[in-house]
Amino acid sequence: MVQILRPSLPQLLKVARDTAVSAGQLAREKWHTPRDVQSKGFRDLVTDVDVAAQKVIVAEILQAFPDHGFLPEEEDDSLPQAGPIIWIIDPIDGTTNYSRQQPNFAISVAATRPIFDTQQNITAYEPLVGAVYDPMRHELYSAIKGEGARLEDGSGHRHTLQVSNVDNLQDAVLCLSLGSSEKRRQQAHKWLYAFNQDVFTVRSIGSATLSLVWVAAGRFDIYFNQNIKAWDMAAGALILQEAGGAFSNLDGGEFDWFAPHAECVATNGRIHNTTLQILNDNKI
Ligand code: IPD
Ligand code: CA
Ligand code: CA
Repeated sequence: MVQILRPSLPQLLKVARDTAVSAGQLAREKWHTPRDVQSKGFRDLVTDVDVAAQKVIVAEILQAFPDHGFLPEEEDDSLPQAGPIIWIIDPIDGTTNYSRQQPNFAISVAATRPIFDTQQNITAYEPLVGAVYDPMRHELYSAIKGEGARLEDGSGHRHTLQVSNVDNLQDAVLCLSLGSSEKRRQQAHKWLYAFNQDVFTVRSIGSATLSLVWVAAGRFDIYFNQNIKAWDMAAGALILQEAGGAFSNLDGGEFDWFAPHAECVATNGRIHNTTLQILNDNKI
């Protein structure tokens, strides 16, 4: 009988981390060279480096795990979609920033276990390990499910990631994504107005992945987004939860991996219910 050996979580993590760093090195090397920027949808860009970085990530993963599948942001019909592990990849999260040499962007790589219904359709993904690399700050965030989250800084020092202990809105730093459509921008402005009265201050940094890991690191206390994709959050949500934070939909329930426009609310946990209450009270 042929025995199929499943990789251990540390083996998956090593590949996730290494490949995120490789892609990040490429993004950093290309920083000062002209970009080929294309539109792939309404207020949605892709650059030549997004595509090249994804190729680097995928090649390294396939070399280590040839039977694994992929759910990457950039379309690639040549990639296997099925496998015991599905890698969910955003080669550059914060593409608009990157295309304009704004340094808030990150590489997101997560190894997930697909969850099936009785008809063998995937209904969700369980992130097992995640790595997020911020190439301009040389910061590598990572987590294994159930084992906590850590940050390695540019000097190679390891820090345990821990969300903030802010327990009231008055001290909270809120980060939000404005969204692209008219409807979502109106909603974001309504929410902004509702929170603006109470929170310490507000930011919007243009990278969902980086926003999530900054909540994990205690740099922000709240983040929300009305149209987040699996590749924006698979690694970041795991890192946040392993750092003690909360990640949910607007009702406080499980994230919907297949919603066409999924909403997410990410907090340090202590102010999650208050945040959900304000969001729901101020829906358009
Ligand atoms: C986007 C960014 C943006 C967020 C969007 C994402 P991309 O990803 O993270 O900040 O508001 O929801 O789709 O296109 O830069 O990879
Ligand atoms: Ca993204
Ligand atoms: Ca992207």
